[in-house]
Amino acid sequence: MKVLGIESSCDETGVAIYDPAAGLLADVLHTQVEIHAPFGGVVPELASRDHLRRLLPLTKAVLAQAKLEPRDIDGVAYTKGPGLVGALLVGALFGRTLAMAWKKPAIGVHHLEGHLLAPFLGEPKPTFPFLALLVSGGHTELIAVNAIGSYTILGETVDDAVGEAFDKTAKLLGLGYPGGARLAQCASQGNPDRFHFPRPMLDRPGLMFSFSGLKTAAAQVIRAQTLDEATVADIACAFQTAVVETLTVKCRRALQQTALPTLVIAGGVSANAALRESLTTMCTRQGVSLFFPPLAFCTDNGAMIAYAGCQRLMMGQHDGLAVEVQPRWGLNELKRFTPFECKLFQ
Ligand code: KG4
Ligand code: ZN
Repeated sequence: MKVLGIESSCDETGVAIYDPAAGLLADVLHTQVEIHAPFGGVVPELASRDHLRRLLPLTKAVLAQAKLEPRDIDGVAYTKGPGLVGALLVGALFGRTLAMAWKKPAIGVHHLEGHLLAPFLGEPKPTFPFLALLVSGGHTELIAVNAIGSYTILGETVDDAVGEAFDKTAKLLGLGYPGGARLAQCASQGNPDRFHFPRPMLDRPGLMFSFSGLKTAAAQVIRAQTLDEATVADIACAFQTAVVETLTVKCRRALQQTALPTLVIAGGVSANAALRESLTTMCTRQGVSLFFPPLAFCTDNGAMIAYAGCQRLMMGQHDGLAVEVQPRWGLNELKRFTPFECKLFQ
């Protein structure tokens, strides 16, 4: 079975083809960074227009890369939500139309399920059940994953998402948009002992997160300092250290509470090297297996949508002819499959 996956929920246009028998056959990505950079953040209308411009050439490119014809494709998966409504509509309309023209089923994929399952695009693959830490620009969630679709949210942020806190702090440090990866780059040159930021909500029991206080603490220090290169690096380092320690302690707590044997990290912030290192150390100590997506599939991409869509199509699920998107969509609203069904098709 060959599934074409389309991602267009925010500022990346991704198209890929996944085949469970052969793995990922092709994957192309266009990032809109240059379009949004002058505005310091994503401009939704510009995002929609650029997705519209890119989708057809990217789809042709991905078919050529895989040496396939439209008739070889067995299903079309597109991101149905959550995300920017206009951007989602472009991808959904495009995907649904392709499926209708090719007379193939179409499936609307939950963007966060795509992220959650992205580690299955690498080797070795995790096995269910596992604890997942989903850290992206819009979400920070600890999830008990029993099987595909069986998601119990154990903890989430009460305010900013961790990627959002990275981006806002990066902007204040003058690192521009998108700032997360740039802040991480600066942090690797910084002195961790010059500044100290609070570790939000670590003194309280439970698995909830809060990052707006940390962001404000960083903003106060940034305002009080002359931002030379060394100071930017030192602030970035202190900020990243506070985030990484907070996420690591919460993951350890959730692993102890649930006794789950495996931890999976996904979403854009899972690309962060300091987070990867800290979680690796913690999991080794706890005797827990740890899985990350391949680096290219941490941030938004078409491959994760092709993979998640393929799993659901194989389990007999598909969407109707109407073009529908869900800009707000909880993971717990998804159709569940049993661990047995998931094993059958992985
Ligand atoms: O998953 P993603 O591509 O988009 C959403 O679904 O939100 O995540 C993007 C987020 C951004 O906030 C970006 O700054 C952050 O992931 N990010 C990073 C790194 N790479 C991307 N944050 C910290 N360190 C990184 N290396
Ligand atoms: Zn994402």
